[in-house]
Amino acid sequence: MQLVYYPDPRLREAARPVKKVDAALLEAVPGMFEVMYRARGIGLAGPQAGLDRRIIVANLTGDPAQKEAERVFVDPEILSRSGEKREEEGCLSFPGMSVTIVRAEKVEIRYRDLEGKEVRREAEGLEAKLFQHEIDHLDGILLLDKMTPADKKQWSSLLKELEAQYRSRTRRSRPARAPKRASSDEKPVRT
Ligand code: CO
Repeated sequence: MQLVYYPDPRLREAARPVKKVDAALLEAVPGMFEVMYRARGIGLAGPQAGLDRRIIVANLTGDPAQKEAERVFVDPEILSRSGEKREEEGCLSFPGMSVTIVRAEKVEIRYRDLEGKEVRREAEGLEAKLFQHEIDHLDGILLLDKMTPADKKQWSSLLKELEAQYRSRTRRSRPARAPKRASSDEKPVRT
C-alpha cells in the first residue's frame, strides 16, 4: 500500500460507502495505519491509500507505539457543525505544504467502528479538524480547493513540483516513490 499524492486523480473521486465491513477491508486497515505512520500523519482517508472506500484511520497522538489511540471510522458523516476556527492545516498528499483553513470548531459525527457498532457523538479541537479534513477526502475535496489565490501563489512551486513528480512516476509506471519533503522533522499534524 502506497500513499497517493496530489495530483493523482484517485484523490478526486468520491469514495464508495463501505456498508458491510468485509475481510478485504479488515486486511487493508493495518496497511492504512502503516502508510499514515510512515508519512508521520495523524489521520488518513481511504483514497489516500488507493482504497475507494469511505473509511478513515486516525491516531491523534501520531505515535505508532500508542495503539490504544488508534481509531477506525467507517462511513463517517458530519451531522452538524458549530463555531469557526482558522488554523493551519497540512495534508499527507501534499507533503511540505501548510495552509490556513477555516473549519467548524465542533462537529457532531456519526460513524461505525470495525465491529459495526454505530457511534454518534460530538468532536472538537484536533479531532473535529481531522474529521472535516478526512471527510473532504472521501468526497474528493482537497486542501487545494480551500486555498485562496494568495495561498496558491505562495505554494505554486511546490504544487508544480508535485505535478512534475506525478507525471514522471506515471510515465515510468513504477511504484510511487515519496516526493521530496520541504522539511523532514515537522510535527505530526498532517492528515
Ligand atoms: Co489530507
